[in-house]
This record gives sequence, structure tokens and C-alpha cells, in this order.
Amino acid sequence: MLGDVQPIVVANRAPLALEPADHYRNTPERLVKGAGGLVTALSSLAATTHALWVAVARDDSDRALASRGDPAELETDDGTVYRVSFVQPPLEAYDLYYNVVSNPLLWFIQHYLWDLAREPVVDTATFRAWREGYVRVNQMVADRVVAEARASTLPPLVFVQDYQLYCVPGMVRAALPEVRIQHFVHIPWPTPQYWTVLPKPIRDGLLKGLLGCDLVGFQTSRDVRNFLMTCEENLGLTVDLGARTVRFEGRTIWVRNYPISVDVDSLLAQADTEEVLAEEERLLSWRPEKLILRVDRTDLSKNIVRGFLAYERMLEDHHELHGDVQFWAYLQPSRQDIDDYRAYLGSVLSVAARINRKFSRGGWTPIRVEVDDVMARALAGYRQFDVLLVNPIYDGMNLVAKEGVLCNRRDGVLVLSENAGSHEELGDFALSVNPFDIDETAEALYLGLAMDAPQKAARAERIRETVRAADINRWIALQVQDLRDLIGGTG
Ligand code: G6P
Repeated sequence: MLGDVQPIVVANRAPLALEPADHYRNTPERLVKGAGGLVTALSSLAATTHALWVAVARDDSDRALASRGDPAELETDDGTVYRVSFVQPPLEAYDLYYNVVSNPLLWFIQHYLWDLAREPVVDTATFRAWREGYVRVNQMVADRVVAEARASTLPPLVFVQDYQLYCVPGMVRAALPEVRIQHFVHIPWPTPQYWTVLPKPIRDGLLKGLLGCDLVGFQTSRDVRNFLMTCEENLGLTVDLGARTVRFEGRTIWVRNYPISVDVDSLLAQADTEEVLAEEERLLSWRPEKLILRVDRTDLSKNIVRGFLAYERMLEDHHELHGDVQFWAYLQPSRQDIDDYRAYLGSVLSVAARINRKFSRGGWTPIRVEVDDVMARALAGYRQFDVLLVNPIYDGMNLVAKEGVLCNRRDGVLVLSENAGSHEELGDFALSVNPFDIDETAEALYLGLAMDAPQKAARAERIRETVRAADINRWIALQVQDLRDLIGGTG
């Protein structure tokens, strides 16, 4: 598919991370797949096309990996080999880029997380973080991409990823006017009005950066519309909503949606490994008759607290379920250098503890919270749930919804937020909820647990079919095809 070009994937995160030895679990130091939906989706592209992956070194273990070569040839514990070139910004610049601008500022805007009466407070520190953090790190990344593109014997095809790197396409375009650049935004694109929370130099700067692309990709058709309207309203550009294009500096930029997905075959194979089956055995030793599962990073957008409140409501209404049901929240710690994230994890744990105090009896605990990040354990949970709760406030796609149902062995029911990107594809076969509505979510959890076997099987099968038909290979193929068709060749 990409034999005649050199793909260069550009993302904040590398596709892998160094996991330290764990004496308790008896595992040695090893290289494992990195966290989050972006890495999950792109690692197969990188591995199968021998792409070069340009990433930002996030911590000491990334810096240790960077010292293994440039690019470093790195092999994960499942035998996949990646070529990774790490950019190593000064620590302070990285902190401003990641902990001040990307998360929370941009992430919060794009998931509508600000409580606008109070936050954000934009001041001199914000502008300094923008200039000395975000723009500086983006420039370092762009410089590395330009160097790699110039060194390549094949025509480069640059795939920039996500909100941490909005300025990269414009910077690469300035140095290499002819290069083909695509940027995929993994998270929601909000309305033009909501972007005006950011001061004009910042919001215009990141939009113009993105417009350095030939093609900008989003998860859903709603994101595409919002992006085009943002170009029109906030920058005064000419857009064509029908053709889904925008004109900028004499070029036409195509804007399309490609719902991201999973690598079906490799995920199913992974869900059948010894390690997962051993985790499943452990799970079977404690699982109750009915298991509700959620698997999420501890991110505010995931709406974990309201999920517990809905479960509490269900337990209040259905005493007959006491003792027979358990809600297992398997949570991956995320962005703990940011105050709001630490506080959020604190409230997740305290709400779960309160509900457990209220209902526990005779050895039954209604909620089991585990804060950990073991892929095999998440996969064992996927195999075993009766109801999977995916209720984000807003979410770009949410791959847990796809992965979970695909791996499940019990025709479990998906309870899905109408504001998850995956709702556009899976909503008809899930139980849809408004993520803010506790009663509706409680009712959906109950209906999921009570649903009869034929209906459960029919819904689960439709979701599995949908995911199989549009897996990650299709996601990649459609983008590459569009780049070739719309722009007329890759050379
Ligand atoms: C989401 C974002 C990714 C990010 C991931 C994990 O999936 O879209 O860009 O990499 O979360 O977050 P982290 O900040 O730990 O990289």
C-alpha cells in the first residue's frame, strides 16, 4: 500500500514504552505498547510499512530509549519492531508544552471541559507557555521531520497526529513546500465559538499550522463541519461545505472524516494469549454473577464519577441485584502532573468508597476499583463483561467500545454515550445514553443486565461486524487513497 513512499508518523508519544521490572508479578524490564487510543491505532501502520516514527521524549525512560540510536530500532515484547526518532526538548519546554498548553488547555477546550465561569485564566504565563513550550517543541519536531524527509530516498508522506502538534504541518510546509502532509486529529473539534476561549494569536496560530496540510482528518462528520466553520468564522477563509475543502494561501486543503479503529486480527490473537487467559482465570475467581466493566484512563472527559452515580442509582432502584452484581473500574493513571487530573482521580476513588460503604454487606462490595495499566488484565475484562460502560462527556472515538465488544465472550451489552465518536457507527446497536443524565444511564445499565440472550447476541454481532468491516487497515487505506486521489499522486 505504501511501498513507493516513506511514511513518517509524527506523534507526541512513541509507539512503545519501557516498563520497569516488576518483582511482584515476576516480569523483567520490557518494552510494551504505549498507552492511549492513538498509539493503539497507529502502531500497526508503523510496523507494517516500516514507517519512521518521530516522537517527543516524555521522560527518563524515553530518553534512555533515545540513546539506543537515531532512529532507534526497538522491539516490543510481542516481537514488533519500530523505528523511532526521539526529539528531546529541554525539560522546562516539555513541561510548558505538555502540562500547560496541550493538557489541559487544548484538551479541555476540545472536550468542552472548562467551567467557563472560573477557568481558564489566560495571562502572561499562558502566552509564555505557548511560545516557549508549545511552539518551541513543535518547531523542534518539525525540524526533525524536515531532516528525515530530506534524507529519505523515497518521497516522504508525513502523517502528523493530534492536538500536541498542530503547528508542525505549517512549519514543515514552510521548509518543504512540495511535501505531502496529512494531520489526523484524534479528539473532537468543537464549535468556532468555543475556540474563542483562546486568545486570537493562539487559536489562529494553531489553525494556520494545521492548514499547512494537504489533508486534515477527523473522527466524525460533526468534527469536519465544526472545523470548516471554524476556518470560515474565525479566520474568514473561503470554505466549501459540500466539497469539504478550505482555501488557504493559494492551496486547497481537503477535510475528511475517517473513524479510527482497531487491528482486529492482532487484537483477537492478543486476547487469546496465555497471559490473558491467566488473568481471566484470576478474574473468574472473584467475578460475581453479573459484571459491569469500564476501562479508561483517569481522564476528566471519561466521566467516571457520573458512571458510579448511575450505578448507585441502579442499586437504589434494584435491591434484588445486591450481592449478584459488581462494577469493575479498571483505570489507567493519566497525566498525574496536572492538578485537575490528580484531583479527579481523588474524587473517583472517594465516590467509589462512599458507595461501597453505603451498600457493602456480607462480603459483597459493589464497586471494585483498580488503578493500574496491564493490557492483559484489560483484555481479560473485555472477555468477561456483561455490560461495558463507555459514557464519556465527549470523546474523539473511544476505542474501548470497539475493542471490548470484539473480544467479549458473553454477548455483553455496550452502554454508550451519544457524545463518543464511536456512537456514529455503533449507536444503533448499543444502549445510548446522555452522559450527564444519571437516571438514563442507570436505566441503561439495568436494561443491559436484564436483556434476553437473543437480543444481546444480535446486538453484539452487529457491533462485531461493524468493527470487522471497518478495521484499522481500512482507516489507513482510505486516508492514503484520498491523499493519492485528491492531490494527484504522492511524489
Ligand atoms: C488520547 C490522545 C492521545 C494521547 C493519549 C494518551 O488518546 O488522543 O494523543 O497520546 O490520549 O494520553 P497521554 O497524554 O498519556 O499521551
